[in-house]
Order: sequence, then structure tokens, then C-alpha cells
Amino acid sequence: MAIDRTVEQELEQARQLLLATIEATPDLVGTANMSGATLSLNRAGRAMLGVAPGADLSSLYIAECHPPWAAALLLDQAIPAAVRDGSWSGETALRHRDGHEIPVLQVIVAHRDDRGEATFLSTIIRDISLRKRDEQALRDSEARLQAVFEHVPFEFWACDHEGRCVLQNSASMTNWGRHVGSLASGFAGSEDARRKLAADTRRVLAGETVSEEVERLLEGRRRWYHQLIAPIRSDERVVGLIGVHIDITERKHLEDQLRQAQKMEAVGKLAGGIAHDFNNLLTAIMGFSGILLERHRPGDASHRPVEQIMKSAERAAALTGKLLAFSRKQVIQPRLIDLNAVVRDLSGLLRRLIGEDIALDLDLRTELWPVLADHAQLEQVLMNLAVNARDAMSNGGRLGIRTGNAPAAAEIPGIPQGDHVVLSVSDTGGGIAKDVLPHIFEPFFTTKRPGEGTGLGLSTVYGIVQQAGGQVTVNSREGEGSTFSVHLPRAEGSAPNPSGPHPVIRLRGNESLMVVEDEAQLRDLIAEMLRGAGYRVVVAASGEEAIGRYVPGVDFDLVITDVIMPVMSGRELAERLRKGGSKARALFISGYTDNIISAYGPLEPGTAFLQKPFTAETLLRKVREVIDG
Ligand SMILES: Nc1ncnc2c1ncn2[C@@H]1O[C@H](COP(=O)(O)OP(=O)(O)OP(=O)(O)O)[C@@H](O)[C@H]1O
Ligand SMILES: [Mg+2]
Repeated sequence: MAIDRTVEQELEQARQLLLATIEATPDLVGTANMSGATLSLNRAGRAMLGVAPGADLSSLYIAECHPPWAAALLLDQAIPAAVRDGSWSGETALRHRDGHEIPVLQVIVAHRDDRGEATFLSTIIRDISLRKRDEQALRDSEARLQAVFEHVPFEFWACDHEGRCVLQNSASMTNWGRHVGSLASGFAGSEDARRKLAADTRRVLAGETVSEEVERLLEGRRRWYHQLIAPIRSDERVVGLIGVHIDITERKHLEDQLRQAQKMEAVGKLAGGIAHDFNNLLTAIMGFSGILLERHRPGDASHRPVEQIMKSAERAAALTGKLLAFSRKQVIQPRLIDLNAVVRDLSGLLRRLIGEDIALDLDLRTELWPVLADHAQLEQVLMNLAVNARDAMSNGGRLGIRTGNAPAAAEIPGIPQGDHVVLSVSDTGGGIAKDVLPHIFEPFFTTKRPGEGTGLGLSTVYGIVQQAGGQVTVNSREGEGSTFSVHLPRAEGSAPNPSGPHPVIRLRGNESLMVVEDEAQLRDLIAEMLRGAGYRVVVAASGEEAIGRYVPGVDFDLVITDVIMPVMSGRELAERLRKGGSKARALFISGYTDNIISAYGPLEPGTAFLQKPFTAETLLRKVREVIDG
């Protein structure tokens, strides 16, 4: 009796211990009879299902504890399997009272009686919603990375530790085709590029990171890329690599253009400076030889030598003129111009110039927009381009001159925004070699034999077009000819009809003139030229002196003044004289317009202006033109 009680007590103690443990476990632990009614349910289980602590469990059936799909799984498969095999485990779900579903891992054990009949079931259920959430988060994050990978606007790829491609985004696929499974060196267009890429991937697999600009041939076109290849490491070991190719061709072009522009700017400053000084000297040489020519008529022993001096000086003046054009320091008188008219007027001359072996094709757009430019300069642009084209076609060919409107919408890289007018000159000559192309606009760059070219043709074109706010581009391939395109901004208004032939102007006169020039030699020269032609001349070395010489009532007919002088500019002088009551007209002379352009903009249309150097004849013609005009 006493012994029995002790055994009973110990059994009860063990049962209590077991119950307490089951109550405390965080997993659901429950039992049910074979008809599915719940017999017991621990605290974690009641919490998962939302069952109140003292609730009646006998009416809690399996079907109520699980969502329909999980209940069906349990009743049709899991419980029969547990009865057959002793136990079953798998992923199912619980349904809380409030309706929400909890993903779970479930174990079912079938218990048998002495005869081997299954009598009841026990189950242990673990909440795996946290794990499920982590898995989902991982899947989401992978999907996000995948989306980035697919949609970045550059090529993106990855390789395994042997350099075989395992991933490729659509940009890479579009450009190079599918390479998954083969070596990454397939992402290159030429044999050289392939070899380099293979070497790069080897370096990266050895642990280096490669970041550099590379050139690749894509569909036969040379393009620039920023290439980044970096190792993927796991536990310090390189297990593969990722590669990125970003197309930077556009940026490269812009950088090249900027470099080119800066170089031209520097050379232009230098050239302009030299040309300016030369101009003053040449004006003196031309002027004094003009005076000597007057004194030594044909027949005189000195006539020919002086004439030679004059001719050489004129050639030198033409050269400095080109340099000035290139350095954009030529004084220009922009007008509204119809480019078609310029082409038409010049076409006769061009035809003679290019000879019979070259055909001239004109393709001029009707209703061409006008441009604001200097007429003589545009003629020069056309001539220089045409002469170059002719030189490139020594065995004959076609010279094409075409004009067109380019609306702002037609964006051309490197061309300023806005509507443009395009003048293009194309030839079917030998084209321009790749290593020559970057230099053709540089002054004195020529591939022609000495005496055949000075190398100033294109630099003049460049300077003129820049000064007009435009851009000149070239498209050329060796053996396929060249096309030079001049883009000029569209101007408002319409170009006036071209004026008739120049009226004949007499060169002499007896009016009273004032010459204001700070350089003594030049001042004397001009005065002498004018006096020789019958004029009455007063000279002044500065604006102040000129003002002092003006006596109201005894006015001048014309004031000839240098534009740029220390203290008072030519413009200011003209202004002050006008305010003082003078009715004299003004003729400005200058060889250098940097200050005019930056301080005042180009001379207004209608301003009388004479570019240094000039001959006596040009001066006298201009003087009459202004006085009579
Ligand atoms: N249409 C063209 N086809 C082939 N090469 C050209 C063409 N236009 C210019 N070039 C190249 O550009 C170089 C420079 O041209 P540019 O007009 O500035 O000087 P040039 O013609 O040599 O001399 P210049 O014009 O002063 O008489 C030429 O020597 C030539 O190599
Ligand atoms: Mg030339």
C-alpha cells in the first residue's frame, strides 16, 4: 500500500513535470482523437489559434484550426500517412480565430493501443512566419536587383571563377548577343579588343579591379566605353566577377571639341597679335610706296622696283587678312544675307576655278532662311572650301554645293541650339586621313607641297564661321571624299536684293578733312595721301587734340579717326564732336577689332569703316563714298 502510494506520487510528479514543460514550450503541442476532436492544447497553441484559456476544446476540430487547403492536406494525406507510417511532417498552416493565417512546420504522430489500432494523434506545430518573411524579403530584394540589372542603361554582366559569363543584362544582350556560358571576351568587336578583354578578366580573377576607358567596335562603328570589371569575393576567395560597360562616346566627342576649340583659341590669339602689328607696318609700306609710285611714273628707272614693293606688300596684307579672319579679329559688317545668292553669284567663278574634269552640282533649297554675316567673308568661305575640294580631285569628280534649313529640333552634336542654315561643300576626292583630320583647321597646317598651299584656307573658314556664331564640321573618310558643313544661326527678317554694280567714284576732292591717328607715321601717311588728292587736311594725334582743333562754325566735312586710341576712342570722339555741333561725317579705320567687338559688339550696319592696311586708292575711294553718301 505504502509502496503503491510512492509510485503513484512519483508518476504524478513526472506527469506534472511533463505537463509544465509542454505548457511552457513555444511550439503548439496538442492531441486529438481519431475523429479529429481536440483533446489537449498547450498555451502556445491556444495563443496561435486565439482560443481562450478555459475554453471547451472538445468542439475544436481540425478543420477549424487550419485554413481549408491545409485541413484538406491533413485529412487526406498527412493523417493517413501518420497512421500508416507512425508519423508525418511537412509545411501546413494554422488559422487564428481572427482569420489570419500562420505558416507552420507540423509533425503528426499516431498512437496505437495494444492491438495495434490507432487510437489518438498528437501534433507539434512550429510557427515559421518569421522564416517565411525573411525568404520573401530575400526574393523581393533579388527581384529588385534583377530589375536594376535589367534596366540600367549600360551593359552589365557577370562571370564565374573561370571567366565564363553567367549573367548578362538586356543592354549587353542587345549589343553583343547572348554569351551566357561562353567567355566574356565576346563583348568586344575586334580581335585586339577581344584579346585585351580576355587579359582584363584574367587580371580581375587574380584579384585586381580594372577601371578605364576603352575603345570597342560596335556594329562596325568605333565607340568609347568606361569599362569597370571587379572581382566578386566570398570568404576572401575570388569566385567570379562583374563587368560594366558605359558608353561615353558622346562625352568623348565633346571633350575633343573643347580641346580643339581651346587650341584654336590659343593659336588664334597669337596669330591675331602678329597680324595686327604687321598690318600697321604694311599700311606704311603700301602707303609710302603708293606715294613713290606717283613720283616715279612708268618709264622711270625706279618705277618697277617700287611697284614690286607694293605688290609684295599687297600679298603680305592678304596673308595677314587671312590670319585676322582666323583669329576672328577681322572687322566685319554683318548684313542679312541669302546664302543661295552668294552661291549663285559665285558659281560662274567656281566653274572656271574647278576646271572641266570636275562637275559642279548645286542643290539650293528654296525659301532658305537668311543669315547674319559679312558678305565678303561668306564668299571667302565658299571659295576656300571649293578650292580644297578641287585640289582633292586631281583626277576629276563631282563638287556638290548644297544649302538647307536645319530646324532647332534636328539636334546635331556640337552645334549650338536653335534654327540653323547649313551650307555644305562635298567632293568625291581622296578624303582625309584619320591622323590628318584633327589638324586641318590649324593655321599653316597643309599636306600640300611648298608653294601649293599655305595652310590658311580652313583656318580662315573656321574663324569666319565662329565669328558669325556658327560651326563648321567635316565628314570624311579616306578614299570616299569629304563633306564640309557650315552651320550658321538663322537670322530674323529677309535678305535685301543684291545691289547693282559699284558706281564709278572719282578719287579727288577739295573738302576739309581731319585725320586723328595716334601713330605718327600712319597719321602723316594718311594726311599726305589725302593732300595729294586735293583735300585740305588737319591732323590730330588724339581725341583730345581733335576736340581742341574743332572750332564751331568752321566745321570739317569728314573726320577720319582710328577706332582704338588711348584715353578717347574713335567712337567717343565722333560722339563728342556731334554733341559740340559738328556736322562732320566720320570714317573709322582700324586693323584690330578685339576691343570694338567686346566693348560695343560689331560695328552697326551703315557705319563707315576702313580696314587697315589700305592702299591710297581704297582710302580715297572710301573718303568720296562717305562724303557723297
Ligand atoms: N576637301 C578636302 N579633301 C581632302 N583633304 C582636304 C580637303 N580640304 C582640306 N584638306 C586637307 O586639309 C589641309 C588644310 O587645308 P587648308 O585649306 O587649311 O590649307 P591648304 O589648302 O593646304 O592651303 P591654302 O588653303 O592656304 O592654300 C589640306 O592641306 C588638306 O590636307
Ligand atoms: Mg585650302
